[in-house]
Amino acid sequence: MGANRLRSECVNAIIRSDITAIPAYKAGRTVEGCLKLASNEVALPPPAAVLAAINEAAVKGNRYPDPAVTGLTAKIAERHGVDRGRVAVGCGSVLLCQQLVQIVCGRPTDEVIYPWRSFEGLPIVVQVSNARPVPISLTEDHRHDLKAMAGAITPNTRLIFLCTPNNPTSTALRRGELLDFLAQVPPNVLVVLDEAYREFVTDPDVPDGLSLLDGRPNLVVMRTFSKAYRLAGLRVGYVVGDPSVIEAVRKVYPAFSVSSLAQAAASAALDCLPELLATCDDVAVERIRVQNELRAAGYTLPDSQANFVWIPLGERTTAFADHCEREKIIIRPFPGDGARVTITSPEENDLFLAAARKFTR
Ligand SMILES: Cc1ncc(COP(=O)(O)O)c(C=O)c1O
Repeated sequence: MGANRLRSECVNAIIRSDITAIPAYKAGRTVEGCLKLASNEVALPPPAAVLAAINEAAVKGNRYPDPAVTGLTAKIAERHGVDRGRVAVGCGSVLLCQQLVQIVCGRPTDEVIYPWRSFEGLPIVVQVSNARPVPISLTEDHRHDLKAMAGAITPNTRLIFLCTPNNPTSTALRRGELLDFLAQVPPNVLVVLDEAYREFVTDPDVPDGLSLLDGRPNLVVMRTFSKAYRLAGLRVGYVVGDPSVIEAVRKVYPAFSVSSLAQAAASAALDCLPELLATCDDVAVERIRVQNELRAAGYTLPDSQANFVWIPLGERTTAFADHCEREKIIIRPFPGDGARVTITSPEENDLFLAAARKFTR
C-alpha cells in the first residue's frame, strides 16, 4: 500500500503540474431508453451512399489512411471555390482548435481570448497548449461582447476565438459588428471564426465567414462534418485560411488522425449535399416553431441561428434538466446558467415541448 502511494507520488511528479488544473471535457450524456437532445447532433443516420463508402473503406482497414488527406482536401476546396493550399482537414474541429493554438502559442505568457460561455473545448485546448486563457463574459443578451473582447487585446494576445452561432447560447455575429471587430484586431493576432453550425444559419445579416477571408490573412474559418453532415462519430473538421497558416496547421497535424473511414465518409457526404442541407432547412423551420412554443409557455430565450436553443434558466437549470430526464429526455444543462436543447425532427421536438410545458418554474 505504502509502496504504491510512493510510486504514484513519483509518477505525479513527472506530470506537468498545470495539467491537474485542466477541466475535464463534459460531453452531452447518453442514457439508455431516453431521447438525447444534448449534443447538437442531427438525429438521422448518414445517408445510404455515405454508409456504403464507409463499408468500402473498412475493407482496406489494414492499410494506413492517406496522411495528407488529399482527396477530401481537394473536394472541400472545390466546394468552397478556394485553392487546396488554403484547406487543412483535421480529426474534428476540436483538434483543429488545439492545432491552431499550438501554431501561435509557445510561452505561458501567450494569451488566447475567447467568449465565455462558449464551446466547452476552448478552455481545455488553450490550457493543454500551456497558453493563458482570457475568457470574456457574454453580454446580457447572450452574445459575444465584442467591445470587451477588443479591449482585452494586449501585446501578449496571440489568438482570438469567435464562435458563430455560439455554442451553447445560439446567437450569431452580424456582419457590421464582426467587420468592426476584425478591423480592430492587430495583424499579428490570429482570429479563428468557428462556424460549426453555419449550415443552420438563415439570417441574411449573419455573414458566411469564408466570404471575409480575402485581404485578411490573420483570419481562418473552421467548419465541421459533425453537425449538418451527420458524421459526429467519424471525427472530421476543416479550417480554411491563408496558405501560410494552413501549412503550419498541417505541420502540427497528429499523423493519420483522420482515419480512412472518416475521409471516405466525408468525401461521400459532400456528394450528398442537397439531401443534408435539406435536413438543415427543416431544422431551421422547426427551430422557429420550438422557440415560439417555448415563449408561449412562458420561457424567455434568445433567437437561435443553430440547431439548438438556449434557455437561460439560471438557478432553475439543474431542476429543469432533472425534470426532462424524468420525462426520458436528456438535454444539456449548464448549472446556474442555462439549458441547451437540440432541435431535431417535429416528433422529437414535440416530446421535448410536452416535457417543457409540464415544468413548474
Ligand atoms: C462551436 C463548436 N466548435 C467545435 C465543436 C467540435 O466539433 P467536432 O465534432 O468537429 O470536434 C463543437 C462541438 O460541439 C462546437 O459546438
